[in-house]
Amino acid sequence: MTRTVRLNGIAFGGDYNPEQWPREVWQEDVRLMQKAGVNFITVSVFSWPLLEPEEGRFDFGWLDEVIELLHSAGIAVDLATATATPPAWLIRKHPEVLPVTADGVRLAFGSRQAYCFSSPVFRAYALKLTRAMAERYGNHPAVRLWHVSNEYGDHVARCWCDASGMHFRGWLKSKYSSIEALNEAWGTSCWGQHYLDFEAIEPPRTATGPINSTQRLDFERFSSDAMLELFTAEVQVLREVTPELPVTTNFMSILHELDYFKFADAEDIVTDDAYPDPADPRSHVDAALNYALMRGAKGGAPWLLLEQSASAVSWREVNVPKAPGVMRLDSYQAMAHGADGIMYFQWRAAKFGPEKFHAAILGHRGERSRTFAECSVLGAELAGLAAVKGSRVVAQVAMLCDWDSNWALAAPDSLPTDRLPWIKAARAWHRATFGLGATVDLVRAGADLTSYKVLLLPNLYLVQPELAAQLEAFAAAGGTVVVGPFSGVVDANDHMHDGGAPGPLRPLLGVEVDEVWPLPDGTAGEILLAGEPRGVHTITEWIDAVDARIVARYSGGELDGRAAVTVREHGAGSAWYLSAALAEDGMSVLMAEILDEAGVARRPLPASAEAGDAVELVVRRGPDSSFSFVLNRGTDHVPVDLPSSATVLVGGSAASTVPPRGVLVVQHDHADAVVLAAEPGAATDFSTPLSTPTAEVTP
Ligand code: GAL
Repeated sequence: MTRTVRLNGIAFGGDYNPEQWPREVWQEDVRLMQKAGVNFITVSVFSWPLLEPEEGRFDFGWLDEVIELLHSAGIAVDLATATATPPAWLIRKHPEVLPVTADGVRLAFGSRQAYCFSSPVFRAYALKLTRAMAERYGNHPAVRLWHVSNEYGDHVARCWCDASGMHFRGWLKSKYSSIEALNEAWGTSCWGQHYLDFEAIEPPRTATGPINSTQRLDFERFSSDAMLELFTAEVQVLREVTPELPVTTNFMSILHELDYFKFADAEDIVTDDAYPDPADPRSHVDAALNYALMRGAKGGAPWLLLEQSASAVSWREVNVPKAPGVMRLDSYQAMAHGADGIMYFQWRAAKFGPEKFHAAILGHRGERSRTFAECSVLGAELAGLAAVKGSRVVAQVAMLCDWDSNWALAAPDSLPTDRLPWIKAARAWHRATFGLGATVDLVRAGADLTSYKVLLLPNLYLVQPELAAQLEAFAAAGGTVVVGPFSGVVDANDHMHDGGAPGPLRPLLGVEVDEVWPLPDGTAGEILLAGEPRGVHTITEWIDAVDARIVARYSGGELDGRAAVTVREHGAGSAWYLSAALAEDGMSVLMAEILDEAGVARRPLPASAEAGDAVELVVRRGPDSSFSFVLNRGTDHVPVDLPSSATVLVGGSAASTVPPRGVLVVQHDHADAVVLAAEPGAATDFSTPLSTPTAEVTP
């Protein structure tokens, strides 16, 4: 059953915490929400103590009033199940619900999300509240989306308490069936770790030395699954009581601790909380990678930006505000990348508590605050963009993300180098593609790859044979596979592949890794790429190109003259292997060659833009037309040639340039390509047909 968020147009609004304000303010809030163009509001995220002030006694009166008030103003509601933070009375009665660290310290009440996700006690109370919420509000016409809990994994993503231990043992029993199978998978013959029965197994608490790496990997898998189990338990109750209402839980962009692909499968629509750092001039590049996951998690479906800040946040060491125009640019960037809603944390700036310095739509100066003015302008613009809704981002490049591999790669004290978290390699590769003007989707192993020309695997440490077969089929059919260093090293049990890396990828890549040569911190190596020396860092490898063409060789150092980058033809496609982490310039040169050879359509770099990062062009395709988003973060005007069929939706109908911090959104025929005028004739051809978009959010 497809459940969609019934909303007219693009969702616009944010988290609302009316319980922090006297009733008189509520009327004023709703009046100003209307003024700002708000049509969707999240409520009751942290309201459990008010909704159930004592065990079993529910007080919905105040929330009834709030929802009625919003409804009468035509504002729809994203209703939280309010289970994100247990009330003090519950903790007092059941202190065992509190999470415990790996060192055995039980965390105290005094902040939010103070519970162990494996606690059966917490689950029972949470489900009772969820059911009560569903029964109370499930039929209210204002309620359009269930918002389960809040940011699973925020603050507490792992718990080592006894309840977790018991849950972990149950998870292991169903995974392995016999203790012999576990002993084999965990390689317990190493360091005398053999177990006689499951009861002897504990979660990997702080130990004398490095912990059995498969035990640790299984605990990572288990913890993500345990949180997912809690989520799906709530989802089940909601489905039972309100089978028509869609369900979500808000993601935290790319979170190492949770397998968001599995979470996405359990929800109806993906929602994200995105907080790019305004102090980092390239944070929008990494934000694009986060958004690549949001759409990739559900096969390209549109998603909602459920939280962003109208300006500064309050939780970094230094919280820089967003300069005028930046929030608008960030919002359009999310939309360009598939968001059908732009929402904020939060509606009204807090008067007290840890987030009183966090920006909001309505700042402390109320209607006169800059954020209110900027958000209202955006709200009015978004009201005219309903046509964009449901369209899907056009990307010809995919990057593979695999939580199993990422967790395995995060084993402290047992790898050639600890400097290799997946996200670092993923961001480096994505920065190269972004700078070259190519849009990337983040996809899971086994995803449908037919619409992609290039598949990037910046670092896939753990590789299973099925994936190797999928990559071979993709290349055989004409695709280009690009694999980075330290890939195909271990199997699903974190055991080395026989014959060494790249394990099952060896036939595809035609290389063998003899030894990993990590570089000490602060040092760099060099390769010769098209005759030019290019820097490498963090990791290099001694490889043999047994059945592949050498594209670049190491220059200097112990690996001097040895193969560094290789390519092998495979069927109609090809497979590249990069045995080192390339510095940015070299990565960009190499990636340009790979993308161009594969025929990837990319935005021509406008001669006037300072750097490739400054201008972004993303295309969304709907059933009848396409939408091009041009975002200019540079200081120069970017000239544009609009296609003859173009209707300018944002940016002024006579637009011939996109000004600094400007946005251009045009609607045009599928066949038309958007041209950035700086390179006459260099059209970006996005006319390759995609499968008919299925709208996740209906008009
Ligand atoms: C999110 C959270 C919100 C709020 C926000 C502040 O992580 O879901 O409740 O705390 O951060 O940036």
